[in-house]
Amino acid sequence: MKMDKQLKSKKRVADHGEVFTNEREVNAMLDLVKQETERIDSRFLEPACGNGNFLAEVIRRKLSVVDERYKNNQNDWERYAVIAISSIYGVDILEDNAQECRERLFDIFDKYYTLLFKNKCREECRRSIRFLLEKNILWGDALDFCNPITKEPIVFSEWSAVNGSMLKRRDYVFRFLVEQSHQFSLFNDEGQAAAIDEPVKEYPLIHFLKLGEDDSN
Ligand SMILES: C[S@@+](CC[C@H](N)C(=O)[O-])C[C@H]1O[C@@H](n2cnc3c(N)ncnc32)[C@H](O)[C@@H]1O
Repeated sequence: MKMDKQLKSKKRVADHGEVFTNEREVNAMLDLVKQETERIDSRFLEPACGNGNFLAEVIRRKLSVVDERYKNNQNDWERYAVIAISSIYGVDILEDNAQECRERLFDIFDKYYTLLFKNKCREECRRSIRFLLEKNILWGDALDFCNPITKEPIVFSEWSAVNGSMLKRRDYVFRFLVEQSHQFSLFNDEGQAAAIDEPVKEYPLIHFLKLGEDDSN
């Protein structure tokens, strides 16, 4: 049976509502927030991302801006490309979709990178991008905020640029970011409302080309 680009199988449509948005609609919707899609560090979350139709277009738009501004300086181009990728997030309940999404976004990045810098491209930069996509595009249920099998809570990393080339990573529990009402139901040891927007983990500053270099970051 011939399937269209928007469907993988009837079963997946029935089980998970998996119908992909076509490119024209994606662009029309993103044009509603055009300025944000062209801001290199604007944060986007696609909460049922499939293979990343919206994120793919956001990345293309951001990287076009990075190209325009920094094509003559490889270090700056890489630094801003890392910032562009570090600010996009996705979740999907199907593990293969999350994986496909990561690979697709990496391939988009790599096409831009290779076209511009050819054999001067650095493997450290590619490793950093892969690492960011591992952390930002997650396999999880966006309704109960947990991994569908392990039931571990979904944790997202916030990445902030510090002093040019360094990155600060802070991890947050996705549920708390979404359900502001939790703010009133959580209490610390003194019976005070606990700050829910506190990170569950903070990491030392790291150079943007060193992400994924070892297990500690
Ligand atoms: C309608 S498709 C949309 C995919 C993509 N956002 C797009 O517009 O092309 C819905 C996606 O949501 C995923 N999904 C369904 N229920 C989900 C849930 N509870 N949490 C996260 N993802 C879910 C499916 O696996 C599927 O990939």
